[in-house]
Amino acid sequence: MLLGVNIDHIATLRNARGGFEPDVLTAVRICKECKVASITTHLREDRRHIKDADVEAIRMLPRVRLNLEMAMTDEMQEFALRIRPHAICLVPEKRQELTTEGGLDVAGQLSRAKEFVKPLLEKNIEVSFFIDPDIQQINAVSKTGAPFIELHTGKYSEAFGTEDEEKAFQDLKGAAIFAQNFGLKVNAGHGLNYQNVKRMHEIPHLVELNIGHSIIARSVFVGLEQAVKEMKALCEGATHVDK
Ligand code: PXP
Repeated sequence: MLLGVNIDHIATLRNARGGFEPDVLTAVRICKECKVASITTHLREDRRHIKDADVEAIRMLPRVRLNLEMAMTDEMQEFALRIRPHAICLVPEKRQELTTEGGLDVAGQLSRAKEFVKPLLEKNIEVSFFIDPDIQQINAVSKTGAPFIELHTGKYSEAFGTEDEEKAFQDLKGAAIFAQNFGLKVNAGHGLNYQNVKRMHEIPHLVELNIGHSIIARSVFVGLEQAVKEMKALCEGATHVDK
């Protein structure tokens, strides 16, 4: 499995003081040296972490694959069509939430979703929908023309180590297989960490995991390079890393 590193919380830390440190582009360069598959950023409506200028600067870097998470708004569509990231993950967004709390309701706004992705696909941007492991949502995505889904692993991550883990895990696995039978490619992410990520290997043919908070949190103690290398090793099948 490939690793996409979400670097939003480098910007969260930077914005805490309003200056330039830690520098987002330095973080991107470290991730690039670790040969991660993508750099993921979520440009939120309130710009609470990553800012437009960060995304634009990352997009200019050679050999960096940018995966832009964004809400399905006209403002974001315009921005995306201008900067043309390699990939876009469409996410729901509520202003007050601490992080993306649930998957996008594609089934409830199918014609809007279809219209929204059309110009993005025409620009050869790889589009995915961030959805809960839900058959109705997968059915809906399969009608939009988007080639990817990203499964929301939040419920599984929260349930990890409890009696609810197995059900949450089987829901993810079943949804991934169901989606693949529709010809969709499947990514996953949210709440994954150095422990719960290992079970992702039990799900066949996952393409990429997008992981942010746990990597940035670990980097405080061991440095970003080591934190990324450890997670990349786990994504590639290592069963443990030195901690
Ligand atoms: N994937 C998506 C679509 C997300 O919205 C997020 C959080 O921004 C992530 C992955 C990464 O989640 P975490 O920071 O919990 O690893």
